[in-house]
Amino acid sequence: MSDLIVPPHTRTIVELGMGNGTVLEALAAKDPETVYIGIELDNDQYQQARSRIKLQNTFVIKGSFEEIVPKFPDSSIDGFIAVLPDPSYIDEKKEPSWAPFYRTVYAKLKRPGAFRLVTEITDELLQPVGNDAFDRWSIWLASAFRSIGFIVAGMKEGSPEEYSSRCLDQFRGDPERIRLITLDLAKA
Ligand SMILES: C[S@@+](CC[C@H](N)C(=O)[O-])C[C@H]1O[C@@H](n2cnc3c(N)ncnc32)[C@H](O)[C@@H]1O
Repeated sequence: MSDLIVPPHTRTIVELGMGNGTVLEALAAKDPETVYIGIELDNDQYQQARSRIKLQNTFVIKGSFEEIVPKFPDSSIDGFIAVLPDPSYIDEKKEPSWAPFYRTVYAKLKRPGAFRLVTEITDELLQPVGNDAFDRWSIWLASAFRSIGFIVAGMKEGSPEEYSSRCLDQFRGDPERIRLITLDLAKA
């Protein structure tokens, strides 16, 4: 990140695990005054984003967000986005291993700052997910982020209509077995 210098008064949004960067690109194109930074571990996905995105306000970084995010100064980022993080970063059973990373995300946010998380619940046997299971899971998810320090500013079933990504478009095709949620988390 040594060649990425963002002026202190510029708004900065960081996407964690951007895949091939279609969400990042669409958001950045509509918001030219804000700097958008996408982080992606997978070389192929990163290269697709890098060769396609030509916007002046968008930077893509190849690497692990667990290594890169701690390098941002504390209270320097206006917003984080995570669309369908891998299970290692959101699974209920793995909470003790991922919670410290989101504590770092919280520390890097300005006050006020926002973290938009789009994630999904599936059944272990790939059966449709009932409302009871969905509600129980969404309550757990909100409480996990509250215990990190976030305020839950919004929680809605589904994903933002304006977001389109490889994984999201695929997941939307199976809405009974893959139920999506969008959590708008805030640092007030
Ligand atoms: C389920 S995919 C979602 C990708 C994209 N957000 C989308 O909606 O299409 C999860 C992405 O996170 C990336 N990823 C997983 N662990 C990561 C890490 N530690 N640092 C950066 N990217 C990571 C994966 O390579 C993958 O592209």
